[in-house]
Amino acid sequence: MASLGHEVVGVDVDEAKIEALTQGRPPFFEPGLSELLVKAQDKGSLEFTTDVSRAAAAGVHFVCVGTPQKPGEFAADVTYVDAAVDSLVPHLTSTSVVVGKSTVPVGTAERLAGVIAGTGAAMMWNPEFLREGHAVDDTLHPNRLVYGVADGRADNPAVAGLDEVYASMLAEDTPRMVTDFATAELVKTAANSFLATKISFINAMAELCEASGADVTQLADAIGMDDRIGRKFLNAGLGFGGGCLPKDIRAFMARAGELGADQAVAFLKEIDSINMRRRVRMVDIARDTLGGSFIGKKITILGAAFKPDSDDVRDSPALAVARLIATQGGVVTVTDPQAIANASRTFPELNYVTDTTEALTGSDAVLLLTEWREYRDLDPQATAELVSGKVLVDGRNVLTPEQWRSAGWTYRALGRP
Ligand code: UDX
Repeated sequence: MASLGHEVVGVDVDEAKIEALTQGRPPFFEPGLSELLVKAQDKGSLEFTTDVSRAAAAGVHFVCVGTPQKPGEFAADVTYVDAAVDSLVPHLTSTSVVVGKSTVPVGTAERLAGVIAGTGAAMMWNPEFLREGHAVDDTLHPNRLVYGVADGRADNPAVAGLDEVYASMLAEDTPRMVTDFATAELVKTAANSFLATKISFINAMAELCEASGADVTQLADAIGMDDRIGRKFLNAGLGFGGGCLPKDIRAFMARAGELGADQAVAFLKEIDSINMRRRVRMVDIARDTLGGSFIGKKITILGAAFKPDSDDVRDSPALAVARLIATQGGVVTVTDPQAIANASRTFPELNYVTDTTEALTGSDAVLLLTEWREYRDLDPQATAELVSGKVLVDGRNVLTPEQWRSAGWTYRALGRP
């Protein structure tokens, strides 16, 4: 927002985060973000504080806090959203606009509109579609903008205010839709459910490929050529993780149940199951290539983040596999270009090494579980010099099997012969 020319105050209750941001350090790895952060701070258009009253003068208040899965339940925990809105209430006036960006159960915006009603401020819901690892570009050049407003009307006075904030994007002809609150909230949950379904669909086909000897990567290429289907999000492998897709489909099932519409999204349970089965299958294949046991074997795991270009390890499929193998007696070494600090905080029991060469040295089996560029570019000959056993399991279907096999490797993958 600051790089678009706005004056921005960032508020958080976490003092350590605010301190780091004030010094120009983002609290997570995101390509291109540090540079923008420092530039905006140098220009004086961006400040960070734990004092919410510093935000009082702002015209537009974005609520961007997390909505994680509740412990022991499928439902989303919206207490952070509630707390953020409550803290704003004393500072709102009839000219303020509160814009929710958090992914929330349908019905939340209407409830929160009631919370701020006495201040005269307007409520909008404006779901966020950015992908981690592409956050800067997705934010500055989104593929669409969705505004949920109380009456669902494009001439709602709050719409013009948000149009001003997003003027640069609208000037690029970014499609902008105005809907009611419920539709805006559902757009986000439906989009993520569709993406999760697409991934689990191709992973279900991978199971069939494994049973029949077919190749899921060729299958995906061929069905993806039909532009009604499209090739994107048909990469079969270890499946989805992260802070969004897994918890969003679960929160959707929980909310649908509360609304008496549980049957409508009952299929998401199967989507979740297919996704989880891939992790177990990965472990089975790895154990199989080692002759049936991990005991005393050194296993190198390439990747800890849930996806490349991120240091996020929330529900990381790679770390789930690493832990399963460790519990089955394997000596596991995990490496990742960015996520080791987060991974070792979350699962301190695993062994972490920052240097790829060191991680590969003496390995009995190498498992590529997060497709960082540097792992995709590994040279089969040079890698063979480092390891004790030339066994490679490609959990993301990103390597060329012939190259590895011709260098003497046993190459295995999910959904491929
Ligand atoms: C997702 C949505 O894409 C984004 O629009 C929303 O705002 C937040 O949730 P993100 O969690 O950053 O974004 O990751 P995404 O790129 O969607 O990938 C999610 C997971 O699916 C990753 O673990 C990735 O490895 C996996 N994936 C993705 C596949 O297994 N196969 C694919 O073809 C694509």
